[in-house]
Amino acid sequence: MDKAIILAGGQGKRMKADMPKPLFKVLGEPMLDWVIAACESAGISDICVVKGFRGEMIDEHLGGRYTTVLQAERLGTGHAVMQAIPFLSEDASGSTLVLCGDAPFIDETTIREALALHNEQGNAVTVITSELEEPFGYGRIIRSADGSVSAIVEQKDATDEQKAVKEINSGTYWFRTADLIDALGKLTNNNAQNEYYLTDTLGIAVSEGKKAGAYKSANPDIIKGANDRKELLEFNNYARMKVFEKHMMNGVEFTCLDGIIIERSVEIGQGTEILPGTILRGDTKIGSGCKIGPNVVIENSTIGDGTVVNTAQIYDSEVEENVNIGPFVHIRPDCRIGKESKIGDFVEVKNSGIGEKTAIAHLAYIGDSDIGRKVNIGCGTVTVNYDGITKNRCVIGDNSFIGCNTNLIAPVKLGKAVYTAAGTTVTRDIPDYALAIERGVMKINEGYTIRKLKTKQGK
Ligand code: UD1
Ligand code: CA
Repeated sequence: MDKAIILAGGQGKRMKADMPKPLFKVLGEPMLDWVIAACESAGISDICVVKGFRGEMIDEHLGGRYTTVLQAERLGTGHAVMQAIPFLSEDASGSTLVLCGDAPFIDETTIREALALHNEQGNAVTVITSELEEPFGYGRIIRSADGSVSAIVEQKDATDEQKAVKEINSGTYWFRTADLIDALGKLTNNNAQNEYYLTDTLGIAVSEGKKAGAYKSANPDIIKGANDRKELLEFNNYARMKVFEKHMMNGVEFTCLDGIIIERSVEIGQGTEILPGTILRGDTKIGSGCKIGPNVVIENSTIGDGTVVNTAQIYDSEVEENVNIGPFVHIRPDCRIGKESKIGDFVEVKNSGIGEKTAIAHLAYIGDSDIGRKVNIGCGTVTVNYDGITKNRCVIGDNSFIGCNTNLIAPVKLGKAVYTAAGTTVTRDIPDYALAIERGVMKINEGYTIRKLKTKQGK
């Protein structure tokens, strides 16, 4: 079976952070996850990550989903892959892809096409290469007179003639697994950096009469690795633009891209308009004909067709079609907002179901509640869902009218078409069609102001 080894031992000193470099994020996803996703979309699921600097952070991030091995000392890329020999030996029948955990733009097509060439040519190793105008720093691809690849020479070990070569090693390769295990056993560190170079496995295979090949990628982005935060920002901008291009091709409208960040995982329907300051993250699906923004954050949520979201944050929730949300709204996790409802200014909703055509137009807190259809929630309504120990639910039936500044002390259940008078604190269930009113008796003290003024003036 084909497998992959991802080198993720680097510290990234120039990032100035106590974190392995592959965990730095591009468009919200660690670079390591980009590389893993490329492998998986190319059909490789047996993956081993070689960790080094702060390896425990890699383990914590991966959460046991993949094999990891530790390279305790940084003795070169060949030494890093040697740590994975037990993983390779489990099944040496197929081929193994080796890649760098800090070069996120490797893609499925490149991986698949390189493997096809690798198999077709019957190579022991196939290196993925690219032509660079400025090849400085990269390993150079050395070809024989017949065009076949004979070696990879590192910058520090290269002759002037070799330095003139513009075809470089991307750092990604396909190996026949058995040949890789064999060559790793023969690596030495006799070179300018006293490192065990993975690249030497290619020369070793050739010297044993095996075949080495190169898959030349037309896309130089696949070799890009971020070394500092400036480069990371460039990566973010690059990835961000790619996402915008994809959505524009699908008929999404952007008039200005300022402050818009859309993660790769997000889906957006045709004819939706995205306005500045919109951040869409995770497993989010936006319907068609929506208007999202300005200043919106939506994470792991579904938004139905024709819904408007203006200046709001929505997390882990489902909003149906033609809902009007905002401005200044916070939808916290586990909400379901029914179609054609309205959630207006300064409303917070949490872990609640809101029925169709219900209006919560201003200044309310709805938590742990089930609200029916066509309910009107007056300004200042609060579900008092927490008694300091437990959270309790409020239920409000269809067609109810909740007066302004109503407090609903949970658990409490209001029937269908119930009215509550403004200022009422509801402490008991209310039956269908009833009005609940709870108020002190209002008194009027006539002439009060004048008497008070006279007292002040000493008269
Ligand atoms: C390596 C290649 C070079 C290629 C370049 C592409 C070797 C000897 N050279 O260069 O031909 O053009 O990649 O970027 O392989 N790593 C470890 N442990 C180590 C050393 C490195 O895990 O002991 C990891 C790094 O974290 C990184 C990857 O291997 O993810 C590549 O290492 P790096 O030092 O960036 O590459 P070079 O050796 O300069
Ligand atoms: Ca009151």
